[in-house]
Amino acid sequence: MAGASTPALAAAVTDAGGLGFLAAGYLTADAMGAEIAAYRALTGGPVAVNLFTPQTDRSAELADRITAHRAALSETASRYGTTPGRPRFDDDAFAEKLTRLVADPVELVTFTFGPVPRSAVEALHSAGTAVGFTVTSAHEAREAVVLGADLLVAQGATAGGHRGTWHLADKPNDDATVEVLRAVLDLGLPVIASGGVAESADVDRLVEAGAAAVAVGTLFLVAEESKTPLPHREALTGPPREAVVTRAFSGRWARALANEFTRTHEATAVAAYPNLHHLSRPIRTAAAQAGDPEAMALWAGAGHRSALSGPAAEILARLTP
Ligand SMILES: Cc1cc2nc3c(=O)[nH]c(=O)nc-3n(C[C@H](O)[C@H](O)[C@H](O)COP(=O)(O)O)c2cc1C
Repeated sequence: MAGASTPALAAAVTDAGGLGFLAAGYLTADAMGAEIAAYRALTGGPVAVNLFTPQTDRSAELADRITAHRAALSETASRYGTTPGRPRFDDDAFAEKLTRLVADPVELVTFTFGPVPRSAVEALHSAGTAVGFTVTSAHEAREAVVLGADLLVAQGATAGGHRGTWHLADKPNDDATVEVLRAVLDLGLPVIASGGVAESADVDRLVEAGAAAVAVGTLFLVAEESKTPLPHREALTGPPREAVVTRAFSGRWARALANEFTRTHEATAVAAYPNLHHLSRPIRTAAAQAGDPEAMALWAGAGHRSALSGPAAEILARLTP
């Protein structure tokens, strides 16, 4: 969980019998290397790293609409004493991270947000690393198989945070996690089912439906070991809010708790990722510093009302009695 998970959270989950992922999205290659080292210092368990795949640069095509979104964000930004960021495109240092992962191999690398060159999968395979892709449909899963995937992460519409839809401009489907799982099982790869898990019965249902494992995000946002900012934790465990699908924060569809930002800024948002992520970042940061959840990205899956603070091992134990 980019922006929320830590080596300590991943290690705690691994030591408790799960497999904690290190989120390399938004990190530099050096920062990713430091997180891997920190994780290895905490646990002897396998290392799993998640990377964002490079996106199509739509900066030029959508320039006017990005500028309009920036103008709309300015008023919100000024309330927090800041300005919107520069809406730049970048590839999240993909090549640098890949080079490092090949030089210092880990057990598992998963890719989210779409395809990578086949050569990237081959390089990881040569280093002894298993490779997975997050998919949200049978079509994406078939593409992942062609690229050489060893496993699939089937993500349903109830998942918290960004939906892993491969094509940036596509509105994500509404398929439940179990439906995405069933749609990809016949490809014969192990499938990790992901999205909307609230309690152990959800885990049981997904395993019975054929999942090799189940991925959980939102419930760990309130783990002691996560770095989720306090207003986000309080929003998850406080008075109920609806979890809505929005692209107002980043330009990619994602599920978050409704707040003033989602209500005000959806209308001008466009499919330009990570441009809009960079635009909204100073506002989200300033709001978090001000302790105000209304302009933060309160990422949350549909099971968020079951989030209970505590050590990660306890959260995992509640899911695997
Ligand atoms: C705060 C947050 C950050 C996330 N970051 C990532 C990420 O960096 N890479 C990724 O593949 N998925 C990411 N996800 C999605 C999760 O991998 C997973 O699909 C989702 O959390 C599962 O649904 P749940 O939140 O209902 O448990 C994130 C989810 C959340 C809530």
